[in-house]
Amino acid sequence: MASVSVDEAMRRAVALATRGLGATSPNPVVGCVLLDPGGEVVGEGFHAYAGGPHAEIVALAQAGTRARGGTAVVTLEPCDHTGRTGPCSHALIAAGVARVVVAVPDPNPVASGGAATLRAAGVQVTLGVRAEEAEAGNVAWLTSMRRGWPYLIWKYAATLDGRSAAADGTSMWITSEAARTDVHALRGTVDAVLAGVGTVLADDPRLTARNLRDGTLAIRQPLRVVVDSSGRTPADARVRDGAARTWVATAAEVGAGPDGRVDLAALLAELHHRGVRAALLEGGPTLAGAFLAAGLVDRIVGYVAPKLLGAGPTALLGAGVTTIAEAIDLEITDVTQVGPDLRITALPRKREA
Ligand SMILES: NC(=O)c1ccc[n+]([C@@H]2O[C@H](COP(=O)([O-])OP(=O)(O)OC[C@H]3O[C@@H](n4cnc5c(N)ncnc54)[C@H](OP(=O)(O)O)[C@@H]3O)[C@@H](O)[C@H]2O)c1
Repeated sequence: MASVSVDEAMRRAVALATRGLGATSPNPVVGCVLLDPGGEVVGEGFHAYAGGPHAEIVALAQAGTRARGGTAVVTLEPCDHTGRTGPCSHALIAAGVARVVVAVPDPNPVASGGAATLRAAGVQVTLGVRAEEAEAGNVAWLTSMRRGWPYLIWKYAATLDGRSAAADGTSMWITSEAARTDVHALRGTVDAVLAGVGTVLADDPRLTARNLRDGTLAIRQPLRVVVDSSGRTPADARVRDGAARTWVATAAEVGAGPDGRVDLAALLAELHHRGVRAALLEGGPTLAGAFLAAGLVDRIVGYVAPKLLGAGPTALLGAGVTTIAEAIDLEITDVTQVGPDLRITALPRKREA
């Protein structure tokens, strides 16, 4: 096989890492490519699930003795601790790898230190190769580890005139089956799905990740979280059907904000504590408004249907905006047509303090 550059190998490692998205929490996604001394690819791996072998270990197993004197190209600094698996830094040293090229240092204080251990053993370590791409591929995990609460994606569906339900309250289905299938795929990449009790009472959603055609559940289900200050979720609500874990988060359990409702920052901190790194906020306008007003939303995914309703609730309520100067500015990062609908992805611009 022809030799590849370290840069090309890192691009491949970033692509490999994404294959673990949605399955590795509370661990990161990681990809690794092993090159022999001549630059030929002799091993590849990614971290496929929490508790499973790390990317470096998978690649080393493939490479065998051909790793000796070679280069390990890894999207995240190799871990230096013994968790459910042994330290990757030690495994790389034992395999005789001469150089380790890393995209992003590990922000997790428990696991970091791999670069220092490798250097102390005489392994050459280079940091920062294709760091931006590797960061983007692991944005939820890196963000949540750095600040201590999950990366939150607000997803909504609306008509072209911004309505999330009709005047009579009916809202199923604003968007197409293609868009809803896309949402189920999105659910499969997060660790928790959040909805307000208002949505549970109005729509009785299941909030599971499943095949829309035959109802088959995805193997891995996100934790379902109902944000319900006083515990109004009915005993027979579908979110309590046992198809996935459910947490009805009440103000008594989480703590209350000044308005007596669930303290949203405390809720996210508790979710992080429970291993949630990426979460999807699915409903509805009141809860979304409260999360946005608190500056707790990291990404917005809006599905916009080619429909007009002219009346009915809007997609967002009470986001703390009273005048145009206070509008929440967004940067649109992607626009994709999904069936007849548009999926718009945007990032809220950080406000000046
Ligand atoms: N188009 C869409 O994408 C979409 C998605 C979801 C829902 N919907 C529609 O939205 C409608 C329901 O709207 P909604 O606004 O009532 O639903 P919601 O936002 O899901 O639930 C609102 C409720 O969340 C609870 N909550 C707990 N802590 C809160 C906090 N800190 N801040 C704000 N709320 C908090 C409040 O009830 P307590 O104070 O009792 O806890 C509040 O009434 C339905 O018609 C549904 O079809 C549309």
